[in-house]
Amino acid sequence: METKKRLLTGMQSTGDLHIGNYFGALKPFVDTYKAYDSIIMVADLHALTSIRDASIMRQNILNVVRDYVAVGVDPKQAILFKQSDVPAHTELAWIFECLVSVPFLMQAHAYKDKVAKGIDASAGLFNYPMLMASDILLYDAEVVPVGEDQRQHIEYAREAGGKFNRAFGDTFVEPQEMIIKGVGIVAGTDGQKMSKSYKNTIPLFGTKDEVARAVMSIVTDSSGERPQNVYAIHQLFKNKAELEIVYEEHKGKYKNLKDALIEDIENVIAPMREKRESITDADIKDILKDGAEKANERAVRKMEVVRKKIGVTL
Ligand code: TYM
Repeated sequence: METKKRLLTGMQSTGDLHIGNYFGALKPFVDTYKAYDSIIMVADLHALTSIRDASIMRQNILNVVRDYVAVGVDPKQAILFKQSDVPAHTELAWIFECLVSVPFLMQAHAYKDKVAKGIDASAGLFNYPMLMASDILLYDAEVVPVGEDQRQHIEYAREAGGKFNRAFGDTFVEPQEMIIKGVGIVAGTDGQKMSKSYKNTIPLFGTKDEVARAVMSIVTDSSGERPQNVYAIHQLFKNKAELEIVYEEHKGKYKNLKDALIEDIENVIAPMREKRESITDADIKDILKDGAEKANERAVRKMEVVRKKIGVTL
């Protein structure tokens, strides 16, 4: 029997999902995960770099799982777990932190961008890429579906694994990012990368009103007949030929074009929203309990090898 390749992906539990997460990560994942031995992780410890409220943290964790299931992930066909349930992640992160240098971590875009935006950088934020490297390498993941913004983090994981392999002998496989073509970085309402921290998102599971408000706030410079920022988002929902018709018909009428975008978003989201509402907290806790058991089994096995290699097992 042909063995499936191992795939791992993760998402921080930092709040409500936006369409950038959906098109950048969730959709490509749902379209492909069954062809792999798939592991999905809620990156709650990564989220701790920005969340300091236990009830928000709890709610967000439940929501991420609910979102994954709502967009079409079947928990029976993948391991779905949360990072904090598997202690090996932080242990392995520490080991990598002892192998990489401070200047190397200082080059991480995510860290540099946040510092440049005046967001307070904790040591956790600085070490973030090594926790992510351990998420990936702990499970020998070969394929990592992510949005373009995470590409560098996968490079960091390769580098951390390579450093370990060179120091202690072959232990980790080399992970490869899987970035879907044509999506790359989904732009937000201001044309920058859509991101919760930039407050330029269109919610994935918002009510129609919330989606409408976000779409109406898309920045348009009143030159030209096609509002670029509207079009950039619209092309995620309709193909070029279909858009040609809409944009020709409503040439220069920004309000009409935004209304058309709202309708197109609603048509995609409504069925998923309905499914999402049917998933209870109890369902989610069961899914995570089962996932934690399976993930721990694999992680513990890998850490036995790692501990022997570094010489802490006597
Ligand atoms: P996070 O939680 O910020 O985002 C989750 C996924 O959504 C993608 N994404 C986007 N894609 C395109 N355009 C956008 N505007 C956009 N915004 C978000 C992200 O690329 C990501 O794939 N560090 C990760 C979480 C993580 C992880 C992992 C991922 C932790 N450990 C191990 C993969 C493997 C993050 O912050 O993603």
